[in-house]
Amino acid sequence: LVLVISTSICLLVQSKTVNKDRNTPRPFPKGFLFGTSTASYQTEGGWNLDGKSENIWDHLTHTNPCSVKDCSNGDIANDSYHLYKRDVEMMRELGLHFYRFSLSWTRILSSSFPNKINDAGVQYYNNLIDEMLKYNIEPMVTLYHWDLPQQLQLLGGWTNPHVVDWFADYARVAFELFGDRVKYWVTVNEPRQICYQGYGAATMAPLIAIPGIAEYMCAKNLLVAHAKAYHIYDKEFRDKGAGVIGISISADWIEPETPKDTQAAFEALQFEWGQYAHPIFSEAGDFPPVMKERIAAKSAEQGFPRSRLPEFSKKEIEMLRGSSDFFGLNHYSTNILYKNASTQGIFEKPSFYDDIGAATYQRPEWPTSASFWLKSVPWGFYKLLRFISDEYNNPPVIITENGWSTLTGIEDDGRVAYYRDYLDAMLDAIEDGCEVIAYTAWSLMDNFEWMQGYTERFGLYEVDYNSPQRTRTPRKSAFVYKQIIRTNQLDY
Ligand code: NOJ
Repeated sequence: LVLVISTSICLLVQSKTVNKDRNTPRPFPKGFLFGTSTASYQTEGGWNLDGKSENIWDHLTHTNPCSVKDCSNGDIANDSYHLYKRDVEMMRELGLHFYRFSLSWTRILSSSFPNKINDAGVQYYNNLIDEMLKYNIEPMVTLYHWDLPQQLQLLGGWTNPHVVDWFADYARVAFELFGDRVKYWVTVNEPRQICYQGYGAATMAPLIAIPGIAEYMCAKNLLVAHAKAYHIYDKEFRDKGAGVIGISISADWIEPETPKDTQAAFEALQFEWGQYAHPIFSEAGDFPPVMKERIAAKSAEQGFPRSRLPEFSKKEIEMLRGSSDFFGLNHYSTNILYKNASTQGIFEKPSFYDDIGAATYQRPEWPTSASFWLKSVPWGFYKLLRFISDEYNNPPVIITENGWSTLTGIEDDGRVAYYRDYLDAMLDAIEDGCEVIAYTAWSLMDNFEWMQGYTERFGLYEVDYNSPQRTRTPRKSAFVYKQIIRTNQLDY
């Protein structure tokens, strides 16, 4: 019943972006924070410099180079390892309040088994953080943005329950080293991509394809690892820097095609990302009930002695519940879901959509980026924010990523339109009481877009990969974003 009620609430939520008066500038709340984001493997380069050891992306791109679209890698990437001062200069040009970047685990702990602090790696992050603070730009630090030490992958990576302690030990080192200056922490970036794409669908490093099993082992361990890091920070470090810590979850909106698809869309959403949000943001402190029931029933049917979805212990549930000071939201796009009558209630994961006669799609008339999965649907952002607010008791939300891809070129009108429309939709949600406190554009500059290499560009700044200096040039969108931040309003 609860499911039905909450899904009907969200169906009633209508888009507010239709028929809007676009002549009046629209202010953001006072004190609203704007930033941009990047991640270590995508930008730093220096893959083996000064004692850094191998991570799973180094390993993948070196052993299987053309698994990446343009057979490229992050060996040099944007060379931010050397060019961080230029990066900070760009942050100043934009007038950012904060900058979100991630730490490379194997740059900080880089012995053959990752247990020794690598001073040169630490120095790099000290330099970057201090350079930012010199100009009043707050660092927002992600501990894990997909670059696991290869040595830990050999031991099973996120499927090995010991990863909880490995991650917690690494997190403690980071809090000790940087906690005096860093006030915003993100434990893990996008659990769904790590677990489902990394260990289920095998579309991301470490390219393990054990769907329905390894991905759930990963989900459980990753969530507990996150919660453990959260509590370490909460108990041992929070006072020192008076900071906040949370997780970043990637969530697209799933729109039912017709009212008869509402329940299925709700269930698909629970499998897609409620899997990671529910244990942390709901009172239950556990996986969504629909997942537990479906997977247990299907596992029994398939002859498994127990559910393929691991259980949390009572203690883990206690640890998980409420273990995030904010809902870190990475949001990009929306999909429409439809099903036929015979598919009622058997969702397990997106790849099942085809088998069971349900599907998601995006409308061809929606504006299209350079990425096949990314179309502009601002009302989906609005509905998602309303859903998060209704579903999890209106938590503070930090948009930790939102952005648009193009090909090369600095005339990026599509990106400009996307940012304006999405910020507008976000303001609609704020006006309705959603507690959104900060917004982060992905990305400060072009970077290594994982399996797409350098073929899809997300930057406010274009990066020239043919120049040794990796020259960074502002796109049109950089000027627009700067203006938005400076005036703290959306001027149409
Ligand atoms: C989410 C990921 O966190 C980031 O690494 C990626 O580049 C962007 N989405 C764009 O796909």
